Amino acid sequence: MSQNTMLRSDSRRSFLKWSVAAAAASTFRIMNEPLLAAAAVDRDMQHFPPGSVVINANENPLGPCDLARKAVADIIPDGGRYCWWLKEELTKSFAESVGVKPENVAIFPGSSEPLHFSVMAFTTPTRSYVTADPGYESGMHSAKFSGARVAKIALTKDYAHDIPAMLAAAPDAGLFYVCTPNNPTGTLTPHSAIEELLAKKPKGSIVLVDEAYIHFADLNATAIDLIKAGQDLIVLRTFSKIYGMAGIRCGAAIARPDLLEKLIPQGGGSAMPITALVAASASLKHEHLVPERKLINTTIREKTFDWLRSQGYSFTPSQANFFMLDAKRPAKQVIDALAAQKVFIGRIWPAWPTHLRISVGTQAEMDTFQTSFAAVMKNSASVSYALPSRSENSPHRDGFLADGIMFPRA
Ligand SMILES: Cc1ncc(COP(=O)(O)O)c(C=O)c1O
Repeated sequence: MSQNTMLRSDSRRSFLKWSVAAAAASTFRIMNEPLLAAAAVDRDMQHFPPGSVVINANENPLGPCDLARKAVADIIPDGGRYCWWLKEELTKSFAESVGVKPENVAIFPGSSEPLHFSVMAFTTPTRSYVTADPGYESGMHSAKFSGARVAKIALTKDYAHDIPAMLAAAPDAGLFYVCTPNNPTGTLTPHSAIEELLAKKPKGSIVLVDEAYIHFADLNATAIDLIKAGQDLIVLRTFSKIYGMAGIRCGAAIARPDLLEKLIPQGGGSAMPITALVAASASLKHEHLVPERKLINTTIREKTFDWLRSQGYSFTPSQANFFMLDAKRPAKQVIDALAAQKVFIGRIWPAWPTHLRISVGTQAEMDTFQTSFAAVMKNSASVSYALPSRSENSPHRDGFLADGIMFPRA
């Protein structure tokens, strides 16, 4: 843990912003500070008041490792140049780290782009998009642009993707999206299930396996070996999660070169920020980063689970840095009541309306979460906080941010 320093919870700019907000509030004699903070927050823009516990977007509170921070600082003088070779270097070292050839790797500014490009490349109004429910919604929103039908299939009782049901629901499938560990449940879909999907899927379709959170779970569960076997499969990886680089932006698509080519013309060939390239390369050189951070996350998550169990709550058996917690009452009510205490948790999945998605923060953040959650659950049965879901002044009022992605409104 020594190489990490905690991310500052607020910046000078946000301090000034919230100072102004607080002054304005006192003018209007709004005395209830926690409620003020929650009401003032522009939740669509995800600006949070100082002192907030932000466990809403599956981010890593540790941020980039020290090697990555130094690499970013050192490359700044070269910021006037494209430095294409840095992308080549990262492609090579990333390929080596996952045991494939460089031609099987395409680097992007995060994994959202290759996810979107895959849906755009492989789904059409006659080739549908198949996903889990609850599942990560990003591809579903991309399918709106391709015009594809979306088939949302409930998870199995073990919270895995229900492969037979996914196959049955879409003989016309263009793309099967398998997120493992699944966002929002944090649960894995077995390798054997992905093999079954590949064996039985309709001709011409592809399987997109999103491994954004796999480092927190079991790297042996990866589907990358199936790429080496030449299968119709694209695997996504990101530096946003265990590597703590969500704001720096780097990710990769791993696949056969002919599949990757289908993504490149849609934008994958553009230059990468050199800060992202060097930060990712430096992170890969850090031998202990993944095991150390996995241990930190597992320890804090399991301690939170122990507390939840002791309080009689049920939750998904997550192996990732987030989990779903059954509040046994409308999730919105609890989300708003927690926000009023400056504890910001994840959004609602309509398929599970009483569940909250909680990201695993630092131990101190989870301690605050526990205290606030206990208080809210004691009091919230009849409480409803009528907070605005978006600001009318938001420049993004036609979309909303979820896990850092701007989604169009339905
Ligand atoms: C499952 C999953 N895939 C992809 C992403 C996109 O992440 P990024 O674009 O930062 O790599 C996220 C973000 O939270 C996610 O949860």
